[in-house]
Amino acid sequence: MKLLILNGPNLNMLGVREKHLYGAQTYEDLKRYILEKAGELNIDVELYQSNHEGDLVDKIQSAYGEKDGVVINPAAYTHTSVAILDALKAVNLPAAEVHLTDITKREAFRQISYAGMACQAHFMGLGFEGYGKAMEWMKDHIEKAE
Ligand code: DQA
Repeated sequence: MKLLILNGPNLNMLGVREKHLYGAQTYEDLKRYILEKAGELNIDVELYQSNHEGDLVDKIQSAYGEKDGVVINPAAYTHTSVAILDALKAVNLPAAEVHLTDITKREAFRQISYAGMACQAHFMGLGFEGYGKAMEWMKDHIEKAE
């Protein structure tokens, strides 16, 4: 099973940015966590982070015919990007949305998730564990569909 795991803008600043919200662990720590979990679940993971919307769109498109699913934390683009929503719809792969924080309990402008409209599962407010849960969900979901 091959998964694309995408992280959007400013997630490379984990460990530096707003630690009271996102914690003290770094993006390197997150990568380590995801790759270790992938090993346990026997999932082949491609990890990608970008601060640029078009790069994320390109990466989602590149998953078409190549990956079995997409796990995405679009970060701030969650709340603005119809392009990422459309890309997820275009490739039509199983998709799971992850947020470190619970966006439903934050500012009004974070209440809408465009990308989330193309996702079948949502994990928020669980920190790094949200990615682990998304990978477990994906494995289960894809195996059931086979
Ligand atoms: C985030 C939540 C977003 O609202 C914010 O813009 C982020 C991170 C999260 O993981 O909690 O950059 O996606």
